[in-house]
Amino acid sequence: MDYENKLVLAPMVRVGTLPFRLLAADYGADITYAEEIIDHKLIKCERKVNEYIGSTDFIEKGTDNVVFRTCNQERNRVVFQMGTSDAVRALKAAQIVCKDVAAVDVNMGCPKSFSVSGGMGAALLTKPDLIHDILTTLRRNIDTPVTCKIRLLKSSQDTVELARRIEKTGVSALAVHGRKVADRPRDPAKWNEIADIVSALSIPVIANGDVFEHHDFHRIKVATGASSVMVARGALWNASIFSPKGKAHWEDVKREYVRKSILWDNDVKSTKHTLREIITHYSCLELPEGKAVIKSENLADLAKVYGEEEYYRLVSENRFSLTGHR
Ligand code: FNR
Repeated sequence: MDYENKLVLAPMVRVGTLPFRLLAADYGADITYAEEIIDHKLIKCERKVNEYIGSTDFIEKGTDNVVFRTCNQERNRVVFQMGTSDAVRALKAAQIVCKDVAAVDVNMGCPKSFSVSGGMGAALLTKPDLIHDILTTLRRNIDTPVTCKIRLLKSSQDTVELARRIEKTGVSALAVHGRKVADRPRDPAKWNEIADIVSALSIPVIANGDVFEHHDFHRIKVATGASSVMVARGALWNASIFSPKGKAHWEDVKREYVRKSILWDNDVKSTKHTLREIITHYSCLELPEGKAVIKSENLADLAKVYGEEEYYRLVSENRFSLTGHR
């Protein structure tokens, strides 16, 4: 996996499932991170090839709960991101998926209490020995590239010191979200502090924070010196941000997302969550579209909301003729 000069879709919980990753890639994303999945959850899963959908699924044993779905099309660009606080568990989880993904990433930036109270996400930033243990264990035992994603520490000097320790573990790249743990999403990302890390390391640094338009890719590259850029909210609100041809209308992007969700039989909760985020950004959930999305119980309902009943029917019929399952 080459991490130089890449446009990267950031990991986003409940958003970065297969249809959203494929959507971003269609518009030009080179690397697409999946939503964070906790190691505890993945180690309860078994791998199953889903002939019905054409996907590879990781399903919680004894249930039909799909924890992670991927497909051959994205094999060379999908990054599996995990939440972990333990090297042995992280390795067990990585071994389950590593043959089906392009890289394995460890989330070291999530400030949510769920992550931090479990010793995961941003909690790791204060434990450099544990970071070292997790990353070296993964590096030594799997052939797939290993990376991690961090936030900034209190001082730029502290972040650079940590980044240097991380580099020594042999990771292939380091993604840096240019905010500190206590910063809110509305606080501006500190591109200058990402620049300090870029100049201190030899491995590729993926710069992340406040890229909302295609031309921001160039601005953040110039400001940080990083050749690769990761974008979260800008892509959530309009996945065509990756396109060099300019943004498509968000209504068209949203419709394409609905079609991909139908095609890949996405978890309806994930599709609804993503649609709600998009609608809230541009309009309001109180209007008829928002209310209909909230009320939808399955993908067939969502297909109706967006006038995609015919597409839904065609996909279902095609699957039936291929597999004999409805
Ligand atoms: C995130 N972020 C995030 N980060 C991470 O490492 N793993 C994750 O699963 C998530 N989930 C997530 C969900 C949603 C809806 C958002 C908006 C963000 C953080 C994200 O990857 C990114 O670092 C920040 O949002 C900053 O980038 P932007 O939004 O300024 O481009």
